[in-house]
Amino acid sequence: MSKLALLGGKAIRSKPLVDWPVWDKSEEEALLDVLHSGKWWFGEKVEEFERLYAEFQGAEYGIACTNGTAALIIAIKALGIGFGDEVITTPMTFIATSTAIILAGGIPVYVDVEEDTLNMDIGKIEEAITPRTKAILPVHVFGRPLDMDRLMEIAKKHNLIVIEDAAHCWGGQYKGKGLGTIGAAGTFSFQYTKNMQSAEGGIVLTNDENISLLSWSFMNCGRIQGKPWYYMENISPNQRMTEFQAALLIAQLSRMEDQIEHRVKTHDILYEQFRNVDGIHPMAPEQNYSTRRSHHGMALRYREEEWDGLSKDRFIEAMNAEGIPITGGYGFPLYKEPAFTNKDNLPPGDYPDYGSLYLPKAEKAAIEGLLLPQTVLLAKPDDAMDIVRAAEKVYENRKDLF
Ligand SMILES: Cc1ncc(COP(=O)(O)O)c(C=O)c1O
Repeated sequence: MSKLALLGGKAIRSKPLVDWPVWDKSEEEALLDVLHSGKWWFGEKVEEFERLYAEFQGAEYGIACTNGTAALIIAIKALGIGFGDEVITTPMTFIATSTAIILAGGIPVYVDVEEDTLNMDIGKIEEAITPRTKAILPVHVFGRPLDMDRLMEIAKKHNLIVIEDAAHCWGGQYKGKGLGTIGAAGTFSFQYTKNMQSAEGGIVLTNDENISLLSWSFMNCGRIQGKPWYYMENISPNQRMTEFQAALLIAQLSRMEDQIEHRVKTHDILYEQFRNVDGIHPMAPEQNYSTRRSHHGMALRYREEEWDGLSKDRFIEAMNAEGIPITGGYGFPLYKEPAFTNKDNLPPGDYPDYGSLYLPKAEKAAIEGLLLPQTVLLAKPDDAMDIVRAAEKVYENRKDLF
């Protein structure tokens, strides 16, 4: 039994599993082209990227913007969701999903999640609907699609708008349809840690021309396409993407098909292996409706009782020392963030008492959650196996960690 790296032994890996970011001549040339053209702003690249990405995901219109949070705010506002409107959403996501609702004037209403997919539990939506409910804002967490037919049926029955936070879903499909194109609008993030990225960036997709025009307006200071530069109809900040970002994204998009395939393969190897690793449990298998999988990392579950009480944090520390970049995922449901529990930190609004909320599955999922970042899914198969080797090594040596 080899000694744990955390306790002075040799680490399973001394080099990162993969290099990040992924780039080559295409990014370099694309950036230099923009630089030399002098058209750093309002050139052709943003428009080209909007068209290419909408096509890639299967939407009619794309409106590029500064980041995924901005994309959400733009979509929410373009769909007419505003002051006091309740939006049913998930507490197991990055805070941006809720930040966007609140900054648009809405009230996030949380429903519990499914502990083995981490996605919003669709079966809990109807009991959360009130006369003030205007929309449902699901997140396809870590790229795993919700059952959109089921969700859209509930939305239709109650006349609710659906906005998909598809910030983790570049190329992902549900029954052959691009994620982020099934609701009234879908939003994506291209921030540095995302599967395709330009350090910062975002896009709104929609199939509705009016929503696309309104999104453009909210993206661009409230201007109206075709009207004079100093004519504004909406109050909104500047959320424009630069030509440099768009140039990078066009290059990144060109390798998405290959990367999707690679990530699926690595994911499936790790998934099979983790079914047999003591103390660690993979999530539920992907459903058949997930017709193209865009894995934004791999979520796992850690059961402390199967580790003789070794804490998840100590396990993570030991794994990191072995050279494996695993984390505890979201850590806790959003409604437990001080931003929500302390009412003084919220803008004016009729919010529920988030501090007293208790959604059992979300709480359990947060306690047990582990997350391998998406970058490791680009590792070569044998390198990826180091993740499994490290977990087994830590398990065998767990007694030394107390
Ligand atoms: C689910 C989800 N929604 C929205 C965002 C916001 O994207 P950005 O960081 O580009 O603003 C993120 C970013 O991490 C996210 O994970």
